[in-house]
Amino acid sequence: MRYEARVISSASKKPSFDEVFAQKPVILAPMEDVTDDVFRRLCRTVGADVCVTEFVNVEGLLRGCKNAKRKIRLSPDDALTSIQIYGSSPERLAEAARVAAEAEPFYVDINCGCWVPKIAARGAGAGWLRDPAAMVEMAAMVVRAVDAPVTVKTRIGYGPESHMPIVDLARRLEDVGVRALTVHCRTAQMGHSGPADWTWAARAREVVKIPVIVNGDVRSADDAERALAETGCAGVMVGRRAIEHPWVFREAYARLREGKTIPLPTNEERITLCKDHLVLNVQERGEPHGVRCTRRHLSGYLHGLPGASKLRQELNLCDTLEGCLAILDGARALAA
Ligand SMILES: Cc1cc2nc3c(=O)[nH]c(=O)nc-3n(C[C@H](O)[C@H](O)[C@H](O)COP(=O)(O)O)c2cc1C
Repeated sequence: MRYEARVISSASKKPSFDEVFAQKPVILAPMEDVTDDVFRRLCRTVGADVCVTEFVNVEGLLRGCKNAKRKIRLSPDDALTSIQIYGSSPERLAEAARVAAEAEPFYVDINCGCWVPKIAARGAGAGWLRDPAAMVEMAAMVVRAVDAPVTVKTRIGYGPESHMPIVDLARRLEDVGVRALTVHCRTAQMGHSGPADWTWAARAREVVKIPVIVNGDVRSADDAERALAETGCAGVMVGRRAIEHPWVFREAYARLREGKTIPLPTNEERITLCKDHLVLNVQERGEPHGVRCTRRHLSGYLHGLPGASKLRQELNLCDTLEGCLAILDGARALAA
């Protein structure tokens, strides 16, 4: 059987950085092994305004490593996607930003928030938060290196100290030409646990004119609306919830732009998204890898379907596209 994925391509003119942020965009967060070309495309079809690639190591990029090149490749309908880079050397980050800028991303984002010890302990990612002055100098160097807008994604501080550098940092990053700041409202030491404290994004936003994007624990249209209202931020970023429920983008879009609450996806839409994602991943990566790397999404996509847990088990044991599509067609017949 041949299955054609239905993918909408946005051929319209690329809006400017300021135009996009005037709309209070809902942004797909950068997520390693998640926000690849295929997933970004699917999120755009369900309303993500802006997407960010997974982080790309500057050394890999500068060596021309195949994986890094794949990560920064942007297809024509990927116009509002930003490329995120990470590293510990200002010079290498500046050089890598030039390489990334050649792909014509919406903006080049510097990762100053990754808490994973093997990255942060080497001074990259959230490691920059241990030395805010060095972080600002590094950002200044990257800004000077490229014409593309340069942005920073970081956390409120390294932790656990009570003084968080984020407010002062926001001001200093703006001064050196950083065009927007994403605040993941946790410390590096919190990793992904504990509640995100959006008040820090509000405090950072109050002291700058550049857009501040609030991130952390935005899981629904209600959350997106509340995060924007409570912080006054210029955009909101969604990470983990999108992995299981990318429809969060259209739900947020309907709420923020049209003041509407829309229904959850139908069973038909849930099954169709599973099929689209599988087909596109297999086209991109072949079998069985394309099937296996889609699995982390399927369980969330199928939430609430009759017999969902049996369905998940069957899909988890199946490595072929044809087999998975047949299982999903069976589920569609049951759900109809
Ligand atoms: C699987 C996974 C991979 C991630 N990879 C990145 C990354 O490459 N770059 C980055 O800045 N943050 C990364 N993050 C952090 C997210 O971008 C986001 O800041 C965090 O998940 C908080 O948002 P949330 O509560 O909406 O998930 C990752 C998070 C997850 C769960």
